[in-house]
Amino acid sequence: MNRLLGSLLLLLIAFPAHAARPYRGGVVASLYPLASDAGLQMLDRGGNAVDAAVAMAFAAAVVGPYHNGLAGGGFALVAPQGKELLALDFREVAPAAASRDMFLRDGKPVPRLSTDGALSVAVPNAVNGYLALLEKAGSLPRSVVLAPAIRLAREGLVVTPKYRQMATGRVECLRGDPEAARIFLRPGTDGRPDVPPLGTVLRQPELARTLERIAASGAAAMRSGPVARSIVQTVRGAGGILTEEDLARVKTRWRAPLLGSYRGHRIATFPPPSGGGFILLETLGTIEKLRPGAFERRAPADLHLYIEALRRAYADRARFISDPDQTEVETARLLSPGHIAYLAASIDPARATPSAELQPSAAAGAAPPPSELKHTTEISVIDRKGNAVALTTTLNYGFGSCLVARGTGLLLNDQMDDFASQPGVPNVYGLVYGENNAVAPGRIPVSSMTPTLVFQKDHPERILLAIGGSGGAFIPTGVIQVLMNVLDAGMNLPVASAAGRVHHQWLPDVAMVNPDALDPLTRAALEAKGHTFKVNASPLGDVEAVMQDPETGLRTAASDPRGEGAALGQP
Ligand code: DON
Repeated sequence: MNRLLGSLLLLLIAFPAHAARPYRGGVVASLYPLASDAGLQMLDRGGNAVDAAVAMAFAAAVVGPYHNGLAGGGFALVAPQGKELLALDFREVAPAAASRDMFLRDGKPVPRLSTDGALSVAVPNAVNGYLALLEKAGSLPRSVVLAPAIRLAREGLVVTPKYRQMATGRVECLRGDPEAARIFLRPGTDGRPDVPPLGTVLRQPELARTLERIAASGAAAMRSGPVARSIVQTVRGAGGILTEEDLARVKTRWRAPLLGSYRGHRIATFPPPSGGGFILLETLGTIEKLRPGAFERRAPADLHLYIEALRRAYADRARFISDPDQTEVETARLLSPGHIAYLAASIDPARATPSAELQPSAAAGAAPPPSELKHTTEISVIDRKGNAVALTTTLNYGFGSCLVARGTGLLLNDQMDDFASQPGVPNVYGLVYGENNAVAPGRIPVSSMTPTLVFQKDHPERILLAIGGSGGAFIPTGVIQVLMNVLDAGMNLPVASAAGRVHHQWLPDVAMVNPDALDPLTRAALEAKGHTFKVNASPLGDVEAVMQDPETGLRTAASDPRGEGAALGQP
């Protein structure tokens, strides 16, 4: 007995419970333990980072239906060690029959028309994206990569506090569709469909069958045939405009990644139609211009610059970022040294610039604080060879449109809300867009998703960090802060991702902060400069990141401690 205790103690000393546990093999991070586990299974079978990320994306669609799904869309960045970077845009597009004023009645936006039900559904593109990635840079067969998702759909997801929170916020929307209510709700005490109790197991056999079809025939299963017909019939039956041609025609788009740098590290992030990568590089550029040496995250003077840089970047994004396939987007000019110098010079070190001064006309529509009912999924992977993936995928608002395509288990997105229903009027994230992001047929809505890869200073071809986040407008600020916590403050990844965050998005003109983000003296010093703060009890987004140590080559992973996710690795 004593010997047993002794060896246990020895084991504990030799392998301390280390939150920044270093792994010699690959690492994965995502919002769901079971999706992360699916990624690890691929790595353990000898798959690469792309195999792992795609398996995680399929599994996440099963276990996190409130955040992402097969009838959604997203972006992925891939750094195949030693080869050219890949950026895949598989975001949804507006149906061909969409029109600028489709969400207006008598000139006013109709509440919830762009977030709930048939008209909110943009053309699904996630499966096209996942499988294009797998074909281009994966190594395992489709059937192997989809196997964990199929099993999870059969065995069921277990209702967690997060599930309950999201379902509570969307319960009315889910009750609007009997199929969604049947799958995602359970009869309450009064017999009406209600939020299921903690621990309820929700099986999704129809989704398992759809996944099997995809495993057998690939993305074609979503483009035509029974699944495509069901999607179209469900949407049109509920008053929507989606057609089978929309599904047959929607494309994935390989793009040139948006490139920049910070503190000597090469950065690749996502270009338009994401506004997130743009915000990231413009903000970091402005900060580095004003603080070429170092950034002190606790100093009021530096926090002031950080907030002012964000205010300008979110304002520029609202004005200039749009679907690059329909309008020319001037990212090169906006990220040029000249524009960065202009922005830096426009910041008054003594005083906050009122947001309305930046773009007076847009600021007239007062934006409500962003709602908390949102999410999305970030999947970050580095494999043992140093290949890296950052993939962000979403249905948009919680449970998307709340419509399930009959007999398929597919929950449909509500990505149409990422357009400006009425230019100048805030969307569900409080984001105000201009005419450039108005609804138009075939157009891609602007996004905040920010999958990002950061490379090592001394070996710019070797990965340092794969990172991204969820939370709508909170995504860019979450990613920026974790990245700065690592590169400026030298924090290890779990500490960097746990540190309190400060968020400003131009409109509304208020900085949102985690309860532990600012001490009272710092806050008072910033208020004296004219900043206003709102302490958010909820997390301000979620960041998932993995990192490779330049000296030792060991890898660490961090899943945002505010969420229910998991960071795993191969010993
Ligand atoms: O693409 C976007 O910016 C949004 N559809 C992302 C949605 C999101 O992050 C939802 N919440 N976390």
